[in-house]
Amino acid sequence: MRSVIYPGSFDPITNGHLDVIVRALALFDQVIVAVGDNPEKESLFTTDEKMAMIRTATQDLAHVEVDHFSGLLVDNAREKGACAIIRGLRALSDFEHEFQMALMNRHMEPDITTVFLMPHARYTHLNSTIIREVASLGRDVSEFVPPIVNDYLKKKFGHG
Ligand code: PNS
Repeated sequence: MRSVIYPGSFDPITNGHLDVIVRALALFDQVIVAVGDNPEKESLFTTDEKMAMIRTATQDLAHVEVDHFSGLLVDNAREKGACAIIRGLRALSDFEHEFQMALMNRHMEPDITTVFLMPHARYTHLNSTIIREVASLGRDVSEFVPPIVNDYLKKKFGHG
């Protein structure tokens, strides 16, 4: 069985992330969506909230596991038996940082390959930071996020 790990901050998960998960499911037997616990990075949502949103957003997709990790991604990938890491690439601006991470991760774990997937062009401009900002200022972001995330955002910002 070929498992792949899809790591990220997911603060919160967007429709762009979901698009990447669906594409990854077409290539691998199992996709482990792994929320990185980074105590130095300030998050809007807790890891538990992020995982709950991902679980609900992926409940109709078979072969998705939701997990979290701290420490090095490659250590977690190895422990989970993943043969690859999925990263989404939206624009050229993502590339340099992703390239550095992929090469460092390969240096540390040569057998774990990073696979870049491009979400549909309609999600090119989407990222969690923009979603948080627009939602915090009271605008509707429901077309960009799963319904459960929209509910969490409304609750968090007291808009509804
Ligand atoms: O959604 P993000 O913020 O782009 O996700 C970044 C994440 C969590 C995948 C990345 O920061 C990560 O892998 N962190 C774990 C620590 C690690 O392995 N660092 C070495 C990377 S070369």
